[in-house]
Amino acid sequence: MQKCLGLVCLGVLFVLSGCRGARSEKTPFHLNPNFDWQPKYKAQMLTSLPPEGTVIWGNEHSFSSAKSREQYLKEDATFYNGKLANGSFVSTIPLKVDEAFMKRGQERFNIYCAVCHDQSGTGHGLVVQRGFAPPPNLGDERLLTVQDGYLFDVISHGIRNMPAYAKQIPEADRWAIVAYVRALQKVQHGSVEDVPESSLKEIK
Ligand code: HEC
Repeated sequence: MQKCLGLVCLGVLFVLSGCRGARSEKTPFHLNPNFDWQPKYKAQMLTSLPPEGTVIWGNEHSFSSAKSREQYLKEDATFYNGKLANGSFVSTIPLKVDEAFMKRGQERFNIYCAVCHDQSGTGHGLVVQRGFAPPPNLGDERLLTVQDGYLFDVISHGIRNMPAYAKQIPEADRWAIVAYVRALQKVQHGSVEDVPESSLKEIK
């Protein structure tokens, strides 16, 4: 009796699921439409096309967060490119330079730059000792007079034999490195008179 009931149930299921044993030209009945007939940008990706003349970017979070929107658009040319609106390099670092910022710059310089430029910036890093093209001394007269934005640009895009570091170093850290390069230059051109009284005994 139970076996019989099972078979009947199976038969009913077949009929319900549309298996009538014969081919049909009619479109099968779509029980759950599930937005299946919406225009799509790409199958399985978006449920609708973006409005004409717009570009898709970011995600839900980017729309609500001004910060990530800014990081995506990078509209602030001074901070992101080291340049003014007219394309010339900015003369000073567009961030607050304090002790923590300099320490950060020192740490980043020693990680990313010292392999070639050495820790004091004279250009005798380990990679150079093993045969890489020697960089100039960062304390060279010419580099004392360049804009801060120029140094930022060299780090971002590289120059001649020097590779670019935009991918590895975020913008704020690149500016911190610029601040530290300025400190290294001061060290090379400074004298004992520049050292504050309180720090004199540390160097003597
Ligand atoms: C792989 C080695 C290497 C690394 C790492 C490196 N540099 Fe350089 N850098 C060079 C070389 C080589 C030159 C000289 C390029 C040339 O003139 O061909 C140079 C040149 C420069 C110049 C002078 C640009 C000019 O106008 O002549 C600056 C400033 C500079 N580097 C800063 C940095 C800073 C800051 C970092 C760390 C973010 C860094 N470099 C990392 C190899 C390196």
